[in-house]
Amino acid sequence: ARVDKAGHKHFMAKEIAEQPTVIGNALANYLTADGHIALPDPGVDFTAIDRLTLVACGTAYYACLTAKYWFEQIARIPVEVDVASEFRYREPPIPDRTLALFVSQSGETADTLAALRYCEGKAARILSVVNVPESSIARESDLALPIHAGIEVGVASTKAFTCQLTVLLMLALKAASDRGTLSEEALADHVSALRSLPALMTTALEQNKAMQNTARRLSEARDVLFLGRGLMYPLALEGALKLKEISYIHAEAYASGELKHGPIALIDKHVPVVVMAPRDTLFDKTVSNMQEVMARKGKVVLISDAAGLEEANEGVWASICMPTVHNAVAPILYALPAQLLAYHTAVAKGTDVDQPRNLAKSVTVE
Ligand code: G6P
Repeated sequence: ARVDKAGHKHFMAKEIAEQPTVIGNALANYLTADGHIALPDPGVDFTAIDRLTLVACGTAYYACLTAKYWFEQIARIPVEVDVASEFRYREPPIPDRTLALFVSQSGETADTLAALRYCEGKAARILSVVNVPESSIARESDLALPIHAGIEVGVASTKAFTCQLTVLLMLALKAASDRGTLSEEALADHVSALRSLPALMTTALEQNKAMQNTARRLSEARDVLFLGRGLMYPLALEGALKLKEISYIHAEAYASGELKHGPIALIDKHVPVVVMAPRDTLFDKTVSNMQEVMARKGKVVLISDAAGLEEANEGVWASICMPTVHNAVAPILYALPAQLLAYHTAVAKGTDVDQPRNLAKSVTVE
């Protein structure tokens, strides 16, 4: 199929804007009318496994790191996550009753495919979450779950990331329902939170102007830090990756609690610190880390909801307000400001947003 920019300046902008629609498609393909998760045949029986191994590269790896929190918290399954290039050469033991799951937009990443082949004959089942259903990774899996993001052209992955997250969360909910680790009510709660995502994303995208203004200021920085706790930690890593990929600004992410173990030494008045923090149970802890940054004159960009900003907006350099959202789906929604900040920063710097230097969309050689 031929794709064009549909009136957008870049494919990346178009793909960011498409997210309410493609997330809606992903949900429609897995959620039944009565709120259950239906997988394509032959399905997965999560009572038959004791352990989950998630393997991927790049942005897909950060989707896996996020999914670790979901599978552990919601379905109580021990999870190991690794980048494919390390996993394949470490040749880790794969205990019985392990489910191996590979996440890849293209389905052709050489390291991820090699990691999958390593698990063949060792893992109980091999699953993949892919955007290209006819790809090598999909073909070599026992079960391939398509993410329904549509063709992604921009080298920096955006809509594929949020669709990967959406499918991984649905898979964690399926696991929870098989294993009886979530009450019917809590399951229904999560499903309705998922269903609310397209509308919340549309609202979040209306903050585009605020993100553009903040990005203009970020574009003058030499280094940027991203902080988050819990489900926001992998997203902080993805936010930093997006920024360095397309704006060429050096960016690093840390779990907020690690700030005092090193990165705080870097803070001065030249360093913007992007803090991703919805008003959840970890909020107060993140706010205290944020105050440590401000006490050292770091410039905080706080991304939170109305309740969070009300409580902690004082003294921040910039803030972005997200709609209030169920804790479990927050990383899917907060991916949008992370993407838009990177996008507008790159546009302000005049870099080649869709074809950043030195990067390839799909890395099919080692
Ligand atoms: C490349 C792309 C990234 C992508 C990664 C993994 O580095 O530039 O955007 O996340 O490969 O690709 P995959 O197709 O396996 O998701």
